[in-house]
Amino acid sequence: MYNCVMDDTLNKDDIERAARAIREADRVCCLTGAGISAESGIPTFRGKDGFWAGRRAEDLATPRAFAADPEDVWAFYLWRRQLLADKVPNAGHTALADIERSVDHFTLVTQNVDGLHRRAGSERMIEIHGNLLLDRCTACGVEVMRTFDDVSDEIPYCDACGAMMRPGVVWFGEMLKPKDLYGAQAAAEASDVMLVVGTSSLVQPAASLSFWAKSNGATVIEVNPDATPLTAAADICFPHGAGAVLPAIASRVFD
Ligand code: APR
Repeated sequence: MYNCVMDDTLNKDDIERAARAIREADRVCCLTGAGISAESGIPTFRGKDGFWAGRRAEDLATPRAFAADPEDVWAFYLWRRQLLADKVPNAGHTALADIERSVDHFTLVTQNVDGLHRRAGSERMIEIHGNLLLDRCTACGVEVMRTFDDVSDEIPYCDACGAMMRPGVVWFGEMLKPKDLYGAQAAAEASDVMLVVGTSSLVQPAASLSFWAKSNGATVIEVNPDATPLTAAADICFPHGAGAVLPAIASRVFD
């Protein structure tokens, strides 16, 4: 029996429909964005308290910004790492990890760089925008995954060649790693259910995944308190927070 007290404001018929679609699916793809981590205390990007509020993303999260002022860009990323240190996965992350275990073919595609899905137990996942704890050498390309114990407020340099490292995230204007992009596209296109959680569906190419899934016949389920460009195309919409909706769906998937 799955342990969950259902929020009275949720539409129980829609919870049941969503759970049934997942139970009956051979392949489920889930796309997540910053909204799933909002209930862990990590601000979203485009909300009123978003990271980008009051500053232009292009000033910080671009190769050009890093080339012009690496110290400034690193200060932003080191601050975000420190912000993450005391954050923990919430009920939404945990429910997705539980749903993953109930489906034969499940792929989680996350735009988040906070690593909370993995800490919640998700395994079959693609971090398409990289990871906040990853450093990549600007000269030799070597990658180093940090731990929270390992994070300092100093800019890291490469142990192998001595060059400055850069954050191992995908910046505006950069390509996704081909293996991640193709993996995400394949999972979305082959899915019977596309579960889209906590993303404004504004940033490409991630935003297109849900539309490709839809045009290939998937049942699209959206979980987002606010309407997005996907909402009108979704088959089932939950205008609520992920921390209430996902455990409720998981509880019905397992019943
Ligand atoms: N549960 C579900 N969704 C929520 C919640 C919640 N508790 N709280 C907020 N949301 C929704 C918001 O309504 C919004 O639509 O989460 C969405 C977050 O949108 P963005 O801030 O645009 O984040 P995201 O879609 O992940 O951004 C995509 O853009 O800035 C770049 O690389 C960055 O990965 C990021 C990408």
